[in-house]
Parts: sequence; C-alpha cells; structure tokens
Amino acid sequence: MTTPLPLPIEVRGSAKQPLGMSPAQFLRDYWQKHPLLIRQAFPGFEPPIQPDDLAGLALEETALSRLIIHDEARDRWKIKSGPLTEKDFASTPDRNWTLLVQDVDKWDADVAALLEQFSFLPSWRLDDIMISYAEPGGGVGAHVDQYDVFLLQGIGQRHWAISTDPAAPKDFRPDVELKQLAHFEPTHEWLLEPGDMLYLPPDVPHDGVAFGGPCMTISVGMRAPSRAELTGDLADYLAERLPDELRYADPDLAPVKAVGEIDRAALARLRLALPFAAGLDDAPLTDWFGRFITRYRNAQMPVPPEKELTEAALRKQLDAGASLLRHPWARMAWARGKRGATLFVNGHAYPASVESALQLCSERELTPGKNLSAAEAGLLLALVNDGHLVVRKGRRK
Ligand code: SIN
Ligand code: CO
Repeated sequence: MTTPLPLPIEVRGSAKQPLGMSPAQFLRDYWQKHPLLIRQAFPGFEPPIQPDDLAGLALEETALSRLIIHDEARDRWKIKSGPLTEKDFASTPDRNWTLLVQDVDKWDADVAALLEQFSFLPSWRLDDIMISYAEPGGGVGAHVDQYDVFLLQGIGQRHWAISTDPAAPKDFRPDVELKQLAHFEPTHEWLLEPGDMLYLPPDVPHDGVAFGGPCMTISVGMRAPSRAELTGDLADYLAERLPDELRYADPDLAPVKAVGEIDRAALARLRLALPFAAGLDDAPLTDWFGRFITRYRNAQMPVPPEKELTEAALRKQLDAGASLLRHPWARMAWARGKRGATLFVNGHAYPASVESALQLCSERELTPGKNLSAAEAGLLLALVNDGHLVVRKGRRK
C-alpha cells in the first residue's frame, strides 16, 4: 500500500487556474483546512487601485480605515481609526506604518470586479475586500483571523510568516488593542511578489510585513458569523414572530413535592415551549432556565452589603444565634445535577447540596447554628455577600 503524498503548501497558478488547481480540488483539499501559497495566481497582475486613491478613500467620513504605526525600538503600536486627515499622512514616518481600508469593493467598481475570481464560492460567504498600503516594515503584527482570507499581493513585496502548528498558543498581547499574538513561531515564511496569493483558513497565526519598498496587499475576506451571533439573531427572529398568548404552560401540574425544584416535568414542558431548543442537553437548558426564571420580572435586586463578610465572621454570628433572612426581592429555584444541586437566585447559579437548596427555597428565615460544613458555610456566605440573605443578629445576650 502506498502512503499518500503530503499536500503541497505551495503551488503555481496560471491565467486558467488562479488557484493552481481546479476550484473543486481547492475546496476539497485546502478550503477551511490548510493554507496554500499560490505563486502567480494572477500572472502580470495590475492592481485595480493606486495607493493615492486608497489614501483618498481613508479621508472619507464613512470609510472604515486605520493607520497603524509601529515604534520598533519600543515595540509600541499606535492605531488611529478613520476618517483620517491629510495631516495624519503628512506625519507618518519613513517606514513601519500601514494604512488599512475595509470594504474597498463597495467604493470602487474595479476592486469589486476582483470578486469575480472568487465566484466558485457562494457570493454571500464573501465579506469584503480590505486593502492595505504599507511602507517597509509596516504591518499589523502577528494575529489570527476567524475567517478564511485570500491575501493577494498587489504592489511591491511582502514577507509572510505563518504557523501551521495546531498547538500554537493563541493568547493575545495584553498591551495592544490589535489582538496581536503574545507568541508567534512561524513554521513557513515566504516573500510574495505582485500576483502571488496566500490563502489562509480561519485561526492560522500569520504576520505580513512590507519588504523593501511600498507594498499593497488585497485581502478578500469571508463572512463567518459566530455561532453566538447566529443563535442570538435566530432567537430574536423567532421571538418577534411568536404571539404573546403562546406561553409556558403546565395543565398537567401535580402538587409540588420539593419546594423550588425545576424538575424533569418542568424541563419537558420547557422543551414543548421551545421546540427549536429541544435538542439541547438537560444541563445547559436547566442552567439557562434556572437563571432566567429567577431573574424574570425582577423589579428590584437585592443589594450586596457594603462590607463583605468573612466566613469566620459569619460563623461567629451564627454561633451567637444569628438567623439569615431571605431578602424580599430574592427569587430562588433549584435543580438536581449529576452531583448535588444548583441553586439559582436572581439570575445567579450556586453549587449546593440538594438539602441546602431545598431548605433555602422552603424557609424564609434560617437559623443554621453551629456545625456547618465548609460547603454549607461557603454557600451561605456567598448568598449573604451577594445580598440574597440578610443576617439578623442573635437575640441572645
Ligand atoms: C495586511 O494587509 O496588512 C494584513 C492583512 C491580514 O493579515 O489579515
Ligand atoms: Co490577518
């Protein structure tokens, strides 16, 4: 049996095959999977826009632009968001700066025409064409993007370094708002010439630096909505269309056995009310509902005490006969988990034992006294310090 040859990371394009292969092969082998450098994807490439026009666009009130200057000696980054002014450009240094303009395809028909080269992709997957102009040394630093991008070299040369190491750390530098990577160890480096194109799937660390002279890079970026965005928008969409009379309903309700418990029957009714969420596991559905239902329609919130109590101070007061009163605005519920329970109070979740959760939901005034376990004391302390329970001093002399 022969082992398949590893996929090449570098290929040569041609006028007929800008990807250096058929779109079907590219999609199968590289799209969303592996980076690919295509030498001369566009042989004899002529940039559709000149640096001066790009700078002019950056002056427009509604164009999205950024000027990024790197102070190499101190490794400090200065970022000026557009609209930019003539003065901003007049005060740029000789090197180490870049101008980035997003959505250039919306402003310039020649730039938009480049998108025809990407018609093998669903048109709605394309987000925008961002174009950068940089003086030598200019770039945005090492970073990852959350979407696929084709980086086409327009003018001059750019040095690209990328990392294909799946274990590469992705933490950000805390000091720079550009979300630059704190650590970057390239596995591949290339110098791109006009017409060369680098394809990167999401999440591949990369760093492009203008080399030798003026440099223009054209980034064709994809639109990849986050699942959080999709979920939020779908929920809004569905909510807008649901009539107000359709409600959580429990005509099958049986008398409560355990006060405050969100039980299996309640979860089943919830699934009926939320058919699109029926596939959710019990744990996230319960966690969400417990937070939601204890927060729901809260006109006011318990206020945490001015000074946090320590566990020792709480124990001392309880030993002296203090009781704990449930704050009148504290709404409580609980649910059984794999181990123990979760107590929900006004949108917050606290790990608890079944006994503690049940007792807290059942009794408006507790006198826990001595011999509290560490877990019980920890829970009561958290509830006191969040304002859900209020200490009433012991009446004993
Ligand atoms: C650039 O054109 O300067 C950077 C584009 C990118 O890395 O996404
Ligand atoms: Co990038």
